[in-house]
Order: sequence, then C-alpha cells, then structure tokens
Amino acid sequence: MSDANSGALLDRRRLLGAGGLTLVGLAAGGARAQSAPDPLITNIQPWQSTEGEGVDARPYGAPSAFEKDVVRRNVPWLTASPISSVNFTPLHKLDGIITPSGLCFERHHGGRAEIDPAKHRLMIDGLVDRPLVFTMDDLKRMPRVNRIHFLECAANSGMEWRGAQLNGCQFTHGMIHNVMYTGVPLKLLLDEAGLKPNAKWLMLEGADAAGLNRSLPLQKALDDVIIAFGMNGEALRPEQGYPLRAVVPGWQGNIWVKWLRHVQVGDQPWETREETSKYTDLLADGLARRHTFVMDAKSVITNPSPQAPLKYKGRNVLSGFAWSGRGSVPRVDVTLDGGRNWREARIDGPVLDKSLVRFFVDFDWNGDELLIQSRAIDSTGYVQPTKDALRKIRGVNSIYHNNGIQTWLVRASGEAENVEIS
Ligand code: MTE
Repeated sequence: MSDANSGALLDRRRLLGAGGLTLVGLAAGGARAQSAPDPLITNIQPWQSTEGEGVDARPYGAPSAFEKDVVRRNVPWLTASPISSVNFTPLHKLDGIITPSGLCFERHHGGRAEIDPAKHRLMIDGLVDRPLVFTMDDLKRMPRVNRIHFLECAANSGMEWRGAQLNGCQFTHGMIHNVMYTGVPLKLLLDEAGLKPNAKWLMLEGADAAGLNRSLPLQKALDDVIIAFGMNGEALRPEQGYPLRAVVPGWQGNIWVKWLRHVQVGDQPWETREETSKYTDLLADGLARRHTFVMDAKSVITNPSPQAPLKYKGRNVLSGFAWSGRGSVPRVDVTLDGGRNWREARIDGPVLDKSLVRFFVDFDWNGDELLIQSRAIDSTGYVQPTKDALRKIRGVNSIYHNNGIQTWLVRASGEAENVEIS
C-alpha cells in the first residue's frame, strides 16, 4: 500500500460552497438488514461441515488469518536504517482504548534488545544512602500497581509541521499506544535506597546497544513513575523493553527508557544527547525549547481516514482517539464541515488520566464531501489548537510536539485524504 503522499491545502469556502454537508440524527440507511434469503445463511459452509483445529494447535494465540493487514507499518524513507527507526500503530483498525501488545508501535535507537531476565539487573546509585541492585525476582516481590497509560513519541505528527504530508492516521498519529502496565512505583525503590537531601534529578539508562539515557526530575519520579515488567496482563514484549521499562505517564515517549538497567540520582540534569541535540523544539527565532516533557491534549479521527474510506451512504460511525498528558479528556468536539459547526462526540469506555479515550459520532452520510476534524478538551480546560495557531507560536522548524487539529477530506467516492484548510 502507499504509505505517503502529499496532502493539499484547501480553501474552506470552495468546499462549503460546493453543496450541503449533512449531519443528521441516526436513521436506518445503508446498514439495514436485507430481507431476501442469503446463500451464506441457507447453504452449509465448509467450516460447518469440517472439524477445526484442536486446542493443542496454538499454545499461544494469534489473530485470524483474515486480519493479516492489521499490522504495524514503517515508512522506509523516513530513516536511514530500520535499526534506528520507528513503525506505526494501525490506529484505524483498533477499537476501545487498549492497544493489543503485538500492534504497539516500536521506536528504537539501537535495535530491539533481547535480554535474558535472569541476567538483568536494575541498579540505583548516586545521591542515595544505600546503592542497590535489584534482580527481576526482587522487583516482583515488591508491592505492585496496574495502570493504563498512553505513550506518545514526541515526534508523532512531526512530519506534518510544514503541511499535510502522510496519508493515513497510522502514519500521521500512529506513534502512540495505550496499554495496562504492571510494575513497582519508582518511589518505593527510591525510598528503599534513601534519597540524600540534595537529590533533584534522576538519570535513567537503558541496557540496549543505544544505551539511551534521559534526565528525569525527581518530583515526577516520586509522583507517578512506574518501573514496569508487565503490559496487558503478561510480560512486556521485547520491543517494549522486556524485561523492564520506565513508565512516565503523560510525558514524551523518549523518556520512557526501555530495557532499564540504571537509575542514577543527582542534583541537576545530565544534558544527554537525547535532551540537547534531540528532543528539543527549535523555534522560528533559532532558540530551542528544552525539557518539554508533557504531551499536550490531542485527538484524531481514525475512521473514516485515508486508510479507512467510507463504504456506504446512510448510517455510518465516525470514531477516533483523544488523549492528554495533563489529565483526562472528558470532551471531544467533532466537525464534518471544516469547522463551521461543531458537535460534542459521544465518549464510550473508560475516561482515565493520561490514557486514550474513544469517541464516536453516529451520522448519516448523503454522499457529499466532508471536511472532518476532532478537537480534544482536557480536564484542565485546555483546548487542542489548530495547526495554524500552533505554527504562530512555534514556527515550523520543530519535529516534536505537534498536537494541532487534523483534517481529513472525505470525497464523494468515500475516499479520504490528508489536507489542511486555510
Ligand atoms: N529506551 C531505550 N533504551 N532505547 C530506545 O531506543 N526509544 C525511546 C523510548 N525508550 C528508546 C527507549 C523512544 S524515542 C520512544 S518514543 C519510546 O521508547 C517508544 O516506546 P515503544 O517502542 O514501546 O513504542
């Protein structure tokens, strides 16, 4: 499939003048059941007359063969090598709020490390009373918590700063996943080591070939950071940092250090490569914002979208995700006419802190072109900005923290395209 093409800048007036945009209440329409006899019901099918596989065939389950296009995808031209690269979560194929483990996007700087948990250690040292080394078994005997959180790479939507670019929400917004983590609050480990009075910052370091390291303010560590060994009810997947990763709720993905081996306590940030030459936001005047940890409120319509066109007129379901690194998202607004009229979407499923929420608009489509957008409003009252509003403040030099409102143009054919409106 095509993974990218250039989007277009559209004149809102042209589209709005081109015919009515229809948003009406739920009516029967295209989803009505047919009354004529269907041979798929009246004829015996092969799977009804032949026994299936036994319970010993698949000790570890996998999706149906008919779901083979529900996969992570990468964009080969984005990076020089697949070792230091990224693939993307197929957001348009998901429902609910939990990302299945095998579909969580991966971002590695030195490839995926394969670590024997029996040989893995976590060391805590620096400004502590008692330097400690934990085995995996030690960690699993400590009080644990289960928490659902999103992880969004700061570079998510990074290709869209200068205009509509990648054709599909998997590529524009798929550097995000949302899973339930199991692990030990970092505060418990730090309490056990005993913090010196001048402790202010931590350095987290991974055991992968990249040895990725980041400085984390102590205050955040004591608040809600988890040292996780589980995701979605089982061990972390190797690509998500097996056997141990940092979970830093609401903060940019880069600081969620995977294959975590070392927590050093200090009194100032380390100014590592990942927080100086990378993961800083270059502004129009040449200055750069740094330590931009929090991921601001954002949302995206996943269906319809370029990889998920509208197939039927009449009854349709519009759906998407919203999230905020500052709290929960109790409200999402949706427009079908490029921002002329907004309506509050229906949120279904849990509304949790620093987690994806799922929203819906049930609508009838009469075949007219649509310009669809969603806008998250988080529990602090912050409203997701337009891309233009964001560019006025941040310029277009940055790669990171693009949380502007996404627009899809849905054509009369039902095909959707990544566009911006002036
Ligand atoms: N930790 C280590 N040790 N090595 C890495 O390359 N990549 C970081 C972070 N933690 C990385 C790492 C980046 S940039 C992101 S966005 C997240 O992990 C991605 O997490 P994921 O692969 O579970 O999606």
